[in-house]
Amino acid sequence: MVGAVIVGWGTALPDRIVTNADLEAVLDTSDEWITERTGIKERRVGGTTAGLAVAAGARALERAGLHGSDIDQVLLATTTPDRMIPSTASDVQHALGIEGGALDLNAACSGFVYGLVHAHGLIALGARRVLLIGSETLSRVTDWHDRNTAILFADGAGAVVLEATAGTGQLLGWDLGSDGSARDLLYADIGGYLQMDGREVFRRAVRATVDSARRSLERAGIRPSDVALAVPHQANIRIIDAACQRLGIPMERTATVLHATGNTSSASIPLALVDAIERGRLHRGDLVLLVGFGAGMSWASAVIRWEADT
Ligand code: UT7
Repeated sequence: MVGAVIVGWGTALPDRIVTNADLEAVLDTSDEWITERTGIKERRVGGTTAGLAVAAGARALERAGLHGSDIDQVLLATTTPDRMIPSTASDVQHALGIEGGALDLNAACSGFVYGLVHAHGLIALGARRVLLIGSETLSRVTDWHDRNTAILFADGAGAVVLEATAGTGQLLGWDLGSDGSARDLLYADIGGYLQMDGREVFRRAVRATVDSARRSLERAGIRPSDVALAVPHQANIRIIDAACQRLGIPMERTATVLHATGNTSSASIPLALVDAIERGRLHRGDLVLLVGFGAGMSWASAVIRWEADT
């Protein structure tokens, strides 16, 4: 049996900060409304999906003490590739000197956790190391005159390196799903802007987060009280609050960065995970629940036992 463990991590955010006050100046909205309804105070905007992915990936490699040539596969979760063809992962592969395979993966905001599970599968089949990145430039597909979406979405990237290990590894339980009948609740046509039925996405997001998390916890054979840290998709603090309350996981054991990042889709979970690591909130042996939902509607969760020294 070959399992996998995370051995490196890194993030990248564009320099430009857009505050709620900046949005107040151009939209019929207010800092008070955005803060109360979403928890977001500011977000980062700029760069390219490949540029952010390369920066986050390079930091993850450095943290792991590895080079691009040590990586067998690069998986790039993104909804905002820089070009339609080729994959943005091929830019990352070239820039980081990776000799193995490269592909983009689009499961919207669930993309990072989808990628995490797929990376474990690749390693079980013989890959030694996988670089998994979530990177987005949602600002490019956001209509900055639409207050329904402009207050939420932003740019950023987060990456982890997974390495093969003898035994079962870190992954204790997982759940991946999708309900394509709800695909029109949140979408962007090619060349178009994000369109969203916010209220309905909100309702389904809470349910999908809770149901998927419960399935992963059950498969891992653990209870919510065993979870040392929950790392949910960073879309809206009220979604996180409602889901954690239903799961019975207190906010003190939940990672949040959305006040500073906004919703960065597939980058949001690694951004929150790495922030928790850097704040010393994660220790070897801790049980971590990662859970995301998004367009599709897709959902994904995983329970891992953290094995790295932080
Ligand atoms: O990664 C997955 C991506 N998407 C999500 O997770 C989004 C999920 N949905 C949400 O986060 C929330 O539904 C929103 C933040 C988008 C909206 O919050 P809400 O509490 O559901 O507000 P609402 O749409 O029910 O609107 C309430 C009021 C409305 O006014 P009336 O009809 O009560 O007079 C809206 O017109 O707030 C108004 N409104 C705003 N006011 C100021 C809507 N957007 C804004 C705004 N600023 N930006």
